[in-house]
Amino acid sequence: MRKLFLSTLSLVVGTIGLHAQETGLKSSVKNVEAKVDSVLNIMTLEEKVGQMIQYNGSWDLTGPASETGNKQKEDRLKKGLVGSMLNVLSVEATEKAQKLNMENSRIKIPIIFGYDVIHGYKTIFPVPLAETASWDMEAAEESARIAALESVAEGVNWTFSPMIDVSRDARWGRIMEGSGEDPYLTSQVAVAKVNGYQGDDLADPNTIAATAKHFAGYGFAEGGKDYNTVNIGKNELHNVILPPFKAAADAGAATFMNAFNTLDGIPATGSESLQRELLKTEWGWDGFIVSDWGSISEMIPHGFARDKVHAAEIAVKAGSDMDMEGGAYQAGLEQLVAEGKVDEKLINDAVRRILRVKFMMGLFDDPYRYINAEVKNEVPYEQHLETARDIARKSIVLLKNENDLLPMSASAGKIAVIGPLANDKDTPIGNWRAQGEANSAVSVVEGLKNQLPDSEIVYSEGVKLGMGERSFLMPLEINKTDTTGVGEAVMNARDAEVVVMVLGEDAFQSGEGRSQANIGFAGLQLELLKKVYAVNKNIVLVLINGRPMELSWSAEHIPAIVEAWQLGSESGNAIADVLLGKYNPSGKLPVSFPRAVGQEPLYYNYKNTGRPYSEQHVTYSHYTDIENGPLFPFGYGLSYTTFDYAKPTLSSATLTSGETATLSVAVTNSGDTKGKEVVQLYLRDMVASTSRPVKELKGFELIELEAGETKTVEFEISEEMLQFYTANEKWEAEEGEFRLMVGTNSEELQTVTLNFQK
Ligand code: NOJ
Repeated sequence: MRKLFLSTLSLVVGTIGLHAQETGLKSSVKNVEAKVDSVLNIMTLEEKVGQMIQYNGSWDLTGPASETGNKQKEDRLKKGLVGSMLNVLSVEATEKAQKLNMENSRIKIPIIFGYDVIHGYKTIFPVPLAETASWDMEAAEESARIAALESVAEGVNWTFSPMIDVSRDARWGRIMEGSGEDPYLTSQVAVAKVNGYQGDDLADPNTIAATAKHFAGYGFAEGGKDYNTVNIGKNELHNVILPPFKAAADAGAATFMNAFNTLDGIPATGSESLQRELLKTEWGWDGFIVSDWGSISEMIPHGFARDKVHAAEIAVKAGSDMDMEGGAYQAGLEQLVAEGKVDEKLINDAVRRILRVKFMMGLFDDPYRYINAEVKNEVPYEQHLETARDIARKSIVLLKNENDLLPMSASAGKIAVIGPLANDKDTPIGNWRAQGEANSAVSVVEGLKNQLPDSEIVYSEGVKLGMGERSFLMPLEINKTDTTGVGEAVMNARDAEVVVMVLGEDAFQSGEGRSQANIGFAGLQLELLKKVYAVNKNIVLVLINGRPMELSWSAEHIPAIVEAWQLGSESGNAIADVLLGKYNPSGKLPVSFPRAVGQEPLYYNYKNTGRPYSEQHVTYSHYTDIENGPLFPFGYGLSYTTFDYAKPTLSSATLTSGETATLSVAVTNSGDTKGKEVVQLYLRDMVASTSRPVKELKGFELIELEAGETKTVEFEISEEMLQFYTANEKWEAEEGEFRLMVGTNSEELQTVTLNFQK
């Protein structure tokens, strides 16, 4: 029986000495390049192209192949003409597919099995945007490690995660799937996730290969509308979008996925400058690139390719190595090589990369390495739920807490729990739920009842949010008319000591294809909130949602607001932990919350403009109909205690190339409860060869302080921290004045000045 626990295993591997590859990809398998050559040399062109094809395994692999398309796919599997499959789940199904391939094909190259394991496989963790709000990179790594364990227990050995598209637009449905608006924070998460999924050895059978996606620019879709055109310049691309991808490449992500969108007119999937030149050549990354679903063929509707054959030609030249369920490579590559339109060297490069990853994963030593029915019995699912609960509570952000309404007292009288999401066991699982079971989350009502068995907890739904079936592929029909439950909710609220209102978004309101022009409460929710408020103002508003919402009315009237996102399997227990003070909230927003949807895209690291906002002037950059700035800024989040920041100090006011300076700040827990604080460091380059953001996150530290305790946090300031993609199109630091800002969120900061010279 194989060893299940990664930590033990990696220790062992560490002591025998891991065979470090020249690239960022790490594997204990030796002599990979020579082994790749030995296989590549005996492959026919047809077999090579086969490696570049990925099929969706939506048909019943364990049953007879159908006579239609799937029969043809099964025949290709038997001939060894499929490199990978996605959505093949279970040991039985992966084993069947691998056997069809290994027992019938000529050269027997194992296939790899990919799946969207985005925030857990069976045990569901907070959606990535939520988990990022924990600013806890150990947590981000741990949930990925657990997701990997649960995936391999079902034969899945490759995840299409992490999604590291920086996004500034709350309208974009997929904002829930990434880490928000900041490139530095997203880069930290990227590294944590790659490490969590892959460990330090791709051949470890308890790990899975990661995918950094979507390369690149997908999060900047115009108007926040999914799949839409992306129009940004090199400055934004290099300074904002690419850093997380560079971090993932350096961390050794085995694969990248390209993107559906065009970038400055060129589909990312067909972009040679992004894929072949930048990622593979300049960054020297040696993994392989999988297309997004059909994105090679989608170059036809983009108006960039005439037909599938033409699309295949463009994509392979650009450096897309594997065609996900698009049929373009199958339709065109062999013909293109025969006609001399595509040099076989390009095919060899792609296949080499795919074989390299397969070798590094140890699949040539044992094609069934990740397919083992026994493992499932060993996975400590119960323990995983405990971790999920801990990570969930770390992800909660306390947005408002007037008159210390929270934490609620355990001896509170009647608690009215109201709202369409209050007893919803499905929505907290969120979108991209892998094999998270429908209706399996702990609801808020259940979470409160678990901890307050003797209290009077009265639940009323009030209004339904959605009507009909919930599904990944169907749009949700929002209830706009049925108010029949409002009367009961108002009645229950009237004499309650405290009302817990649970509102937000349905499970599938955010996610792929779920862009929205409105980001307030859908349906009748706000109306319900106002009716309840009219009879009882003692309201704790708990939000369950996948994107930043427009909360202006609530922020003005409701005394306590808790951002509880979609927190996964243990949602209700984690929320109860925070509401009852068993966990002191420590999350901070990874994304700005707007006052109105018209502010989107909204982000803290904007450029100053020639006319920065000023209260005194009309003809300056602002909207005339709302207050300037976000409702809740990036990095913001309250605690049940308070933190005081002393004046920051710099070890030297001047920094010279090659040296470092230290910025120190003492932080004191000035309240009477133990708590955690994310100490944040921002920087501004005052005058540069291109206009620079008014501030950019450059460091953070999550600290825990006992009541009354003080800790001094130190940030090392180096030339590297001052670098950006300059007018010379290079990463470099330019001489001059820098402002370093430190504090509790992106707006409450203290500044020290540093001069940099070369
Ligand atoms: C399309 C999505 O854009 C991508 O992120 C996902 O991995 C694939 N579908 C596969 O499901």
